[in-house]
Amino acid sequence: MNSYRTHHCAELRKSHIGQKVTLSGWVSSRRDHGGLVFVDLRDREGLTQIVLDPHSLPAAHDLRSEFVIRIEGEVVGRPEGTVNLKLSTGEIEIKATQLDVLNRSETPPYPLDEEHVNEDLRLQYRYLDLRRAEMAHNLKLRHRVCKTIRDYLDEQGFLEIETPILFKSTPEGAREYLVPSRANPGLFYALPQSPQQFKQLLMVAGAEKYFQLARCFRDEDLRADRQPEFTQVDLEMSFIEREDIYRLIEGLLQRIWKTSIDHEVKLPLERITFQQAMNSYGTDKPDRRLGMELYDFTETFKASSFKVFASVVAAGGVVKAMNAKGFACATQGQIDHLTEQAKAAGAKGLAWIKAEGGTWKSPIVKFFNDAEKEALTRGLKIEEGDLILFAADQWQPACEVLGKLRLVIAGMLQKMGKLTVPKGVYDFFWVVDFPLIHFDSEAQRYMASHHPFTAPIPEDLSLLEKEPTKVRGQHYDIVLNGVELGGGSIRIHQPEVQKKLFEEVFKIPKEIAETRFGYLIRALGFGAPPHGGIALGLDRLVAILCGAESIRDVIAFPKNARAQDLMTGSPAEVESKQLRELRIQTEIKALAAS
Ligand code: AMO
Ligand code: AMP
Repeated sequence: MNSYRTHHCAELRKSHIGQKVTLSGWVSSRRDHGGLVFVDLRDREGLTQIVLDPHSLPAAHDLRSEFVIRIEGEVVGRPEGTVNLKLSTGEIEIKATQLDVLNRSETPPYPLDEEHVNEDLRLQYRYLDLRRAEMAHNLKLRHRVCKTIRDYLDEQGFLEIETPILFKSTPEGAREYLVPSRANPGLFYALPQSPQQFKQLLMVAGAEKYFQLARCFRDEDLRADRQPEFTQVDLEMSFIEREDIYRLIEGLLQRIWKTSIDHEVKLPLERITFQQAMNSYGTDKPDRRLGMELYDFTETFKASSFKVFASVVAAGGVVKAMNAKGFACATQGQIDHLTEQAKAAGAKGLAWIKAEGGTWKSPIVKFFNDAEKEALTRGLKIEEGDLILFAADQWQPACEVLGKLRLVIAGMLQKMGKLTVPKGVYDFFWVVDFPLIHFDSEAQRYMASHHPFTAPIPEDLSLLEKEPTKVRGQHYDIVLNGVELGGGSIRIHQPEVQKKLFEEVFKIPKEIAETRFGYLIRALGFGAPPHGGIALGLDRLVAILCGAESIRDVIAFPKNARAQDLMTGSPAEVESKQLRELRIQTEIKALAAS
């Protein structure tokens, strides 16, 4: 103990009554009660109430929010009726005998504990925002999780190895951040989207078990669960199969949930296929807590007199439907909104039925015969008050449209109090058997569904030439409450297979494949062991543990939705001298002027 404190501000209890103590911290709040001044003194751990008598301590009158003070005093029991059981120190207070103002504070731009403060303002004064108990709790929990991860992986024989931040552009996946090289004018580094290639090279190097809490950079459109720089729990292992990764990660998640929130995760975790996830929920990261599964009525409508459905089925498509339980009360405005959302997701229209007033209200039900109605009633368990929605299209787009509507509707029903998502439920599961390859209509070529280093499932290899989209990859995602927590795969370790995928399937010209990935293929040629790995999104994982709405709440200094740091004012202009050194000219000013 030094002269600033004998205890922290969440420490003192009834058992300390009578002791002389010293505390230091910030004035969280201050109340002038006639002859006495009451201060809630805050430090990282919590709050303690201080009672100051301005007659003996005149500086007490000048105290303001966020002043930094040191007090000496005696622990006393709180008088009858003033005990605050919500506070860990709520049964005592300190009768101050000495007050030192260590530093004054400007008036904060907003009361720190006010709810609904504009987030940009919070981010501009992040150092104040982080003083709040909730944020301090989030940072502590994040630390606890990182410590648990390091301990667990160390026990399992992993080495923590750092990989470069100044990497190389490998435009497969998200857009990258580029860094110009002064020593090599006109040439650029790129910040890594993940340590993927280095961790594979470490396997070639014989590291066998690597991990890193790795900072990753992606220039993507930002959302609540996406940041331009974020942290992965990144790992890779040699001489392993998919089952080894499942066992390792399940043990890790169980340990994290136990040590951080004392929750028992039941193992083994369930596994569902990509096909099942899409069929039942219209997404590869379903939030199964919401219910509202999708059902298939392709058979029912293949010869229907409702031509919209029958013709889709004739063209090889499907008819899928879902029951938005209790949402027959949807207004025309809400139905229009859902239709807009469906169209934005690629649907041609949105057919619906309201089961209301003992009958079905719908623009299309007049086309349905009794057998069709009966099949819907049974299949969707339609009851009075339900809203049924349909998507008729090719399989994947039909699933995806309803998958999106399902989330929109769940949001609406939650707002209306008709749907409550259970608290304290952690629905973990694996999604497996993803297609290795999909056809990207924008790029007009086949692309890797995960990344181009994922190994195919051996029994599907023969399909690679004729039906590439039917080949499944040895890829797995771990999903929690509708969030993709992580993903990984067993990798291709034979250079011929990797080359074949680059050249014949992804149609990356030989020279480009050579400059972008030549070093990796070369490395595979020097005795690469079979290997695989996974990366978990640390920010997402901690956000769920904290019950935070956004990953911004578990990152000390995040960027806002426009990828800006409002506190430091970044990104920012640089001196023209710096640009000259880098031999870079920008067109921005000229563009703005024209
Ligand atoms: P992937 O791209 O799936 O895989 O990323 C792994 C996990 O990282 C998290 N994540 C993000 N978190 C916050 N902000 C972002 N912008 C963001 N992007 C991704 C997600 C995701 O599941 N190298 C492979 C892993 C491997 O194959 O081993 C990779 O990066 O939780
Ligand atoms: P139409 O005959 O095109 O006016 O469509 C009749 C109803 O079916 C309208 O409510 C449309 O929104 C809806 N609809 C049209 N195409 C589809 C589709 N592919 N999937 C689901 N509903 C559709």
